[in-house]
Amino acid sequence: MAVLASGRGSNFRALAKRCQDETFPAEVACLMTDNRSAGAIEIAAGFGIAWHLVDAGEKRGRLQPGAESEIVARCESARADLILLAGFMRILEDAPGGLLDRFRGRVINVHPSLLPSFKGLHAQRQALEYGVKVAGCSVHFVDASVDGGPIILQSAVPVRDDDDVESLGARILEAEHRAVTRAVELFARGQLRIEGRRVLGT
Ligand code: GAR
Repeated sequence: MAVLASGRGSNFRALAKRCQDETFPAEVACLMTDNRSAGAIEIAAGFGIAWHLVDAGEKRGRLQPGAESEIVARCESARADLILLAGFMRILEDAPGGLLDRFRGRVINVHPSLLPSFKGLHAQRQALEYGVKVAGCSVHFVDASVDGGPIILQSAVPVRDDDDVESLGARILEAEHRAVTRAVELFARGQLRIEGRRVLGT
């Protein structure tokens, strides 16, 4: 798989670590990032995984023309079967020849909420401010909508009275690491079937 990450890279690290297990059915071919100071770069170097910095442009949350074609080309030359968005903070357009077109049904994202609640940025803060008692994470296939594709796995965590964004975020992140590695494993074993909005085989 190819992993796209914009920041710290803890989901990427959890996955790279899991891939070291010989019985795990997937491996990371390369990391791509839009952020030259992403922690994910150091993690890739530590695991001996090839990494590439993509010039995504100045527009926050979007990829400049050409950036997505570069990502597609790198995914294809790495012969990736799966693309994992692990904290990649730019939206992919559903355009002909784009990543979602070339890797239809093979792009997965991890999001720090129980979707469809709290899409978009700062999901952990949204959950706290809303006052939910149960928060969590979702791993889902990516389609043209933002955080709206068919859900593969979800994992719930409690919200405690004394939680702040950091403590809740840390609890959700642990759940993310488990969910993302499990989703990749299920995908790699060919167990997942998308039927409409539902993902079966989990
Ligand atoms: C994770 O919480 C991930 O769910 C979130 O960014 C964080 C990346 O952490 N992604 C999104 O919010 C995407 N909408 P990491 O760099 O330590 O893996």
